[in-house]
Amino acid sequence: MNAPKLRFAPTPLLFPGISSDAAAPAAQPAKPRSFREDLLIGLSGTPKSIPCKYLYDRRGSELFDEICELPEYYPTRTELALTRDRAGCIAQAIGPNATLIEPGAGSTTKIRLLLEALEDPLAYLPVDISGAHLRDAVEDLSARFTSTWVHAVEADFTRPFELRAPLSEAGARVIYFPGSTIGNFEPAQAQRLLASFAAPLRPQDFVLLGWDRIKSPDVLVPAYADARGVTEAFIRNLLVRVRDELGANVDPEAFALDTRWQPEHERIRISLRPREAQTIQIGDRRFDFEAGEELFVEHSHKYSDARMRGIAEAAGLRELRTWHDPRGWFALSLLGPMG
Ligand code: AVI
Repeated sequence: MNAPKLRFAPTPLLFPGISSDAAAPAAQPAKPRSFREDLLIGLSGTPKSIPCKYLYDRRGSELFDEICELPEYYPTRTELALTRDRAGCIAQAIGPNATLIEPGAGSTTKIRLLLEALEDPLAYLPVDISGAHLRDAVEDLSARFTSTWVHAVEADFTRPFELRAPLSEAGARVIYFPGSTIGNFEPAQAQRLLASFAAPLRPQDFVLLGWDRIKSPDVLVPAYADARGVTEAFIRNLLVRVRDELGANVDPEAFALDTRWQPEHERIRISLRPREAQTIQIGDRRFDFEAGEELFVEHSHKYSDARMRGIAEAAGLRELRTWHDPRGWFALSLLGPMG
């Protein structure tokens, strides 16, 4: 059979993003803030905070890879096994000649499982802010999947972006968002992000979403406070960046990891707290911490099926299928645009 032809779509796919400056037209998005600007804003707030998007420099990404291997950190291994188990059903639901678009593409292991299971996938388009990271992944996958067109798109998927790539009218377009990254967004943002994914989809397209389910704090808390201290090093690396990249005066080792399950919000809250009073000095700006004062970094939201379904529906996506692992810890949902 001849594979359907890929050609540049006459109009690019437009993803509106979730930038809070909704008044800014997509063609002229507001200029992103620098690390320094975001940091000064975060440290001036109550509680003091640092945006979790800064966790992933080279060292941070290495530490996150280490976290994924930890015995306590169940999400990666559970999602992989679930994807492996259900790849056949997922492929059947998606059909032949699919184009996979992966915002924030991370490790290539999960996408390999899907590309292997799908019937004649046409294209794989990973979207990531870090070009270098993406290029390695693309080289690897192109060598393995020679009849799939693999093309990296450098963009911040949380901001408005245009996907200009050869697309086929044949086959479904699938936005693949695994890894429970959706959980690191506040629920309202998660809804806006899903709506942004849904915006350019046709009725026959899909979102395939990996998300983490509510479970016992006895499982949740150790996953974010491991015995070896890798998570602590990962979170503290933010302060190492503040010191090394911004020339700030700060002692990262003086801050300890604080992980809490907040049942009323169904989320893990991750912060750093200094054991004794500390100061972070950035140029002429000085931020004083009392002993034990919170420096908030990240939420990891966990969902029930009903709540995730509600968020997807509010984003214009209906649940077609949801698969769980045998322990019911993790879920993969296939969503489709509402009519
Ligand atoms: C990337 N994200 C899904 C991780 C999580 O589980 O929320 C980030 C993380 N933070 C600490 N450990 C893992």
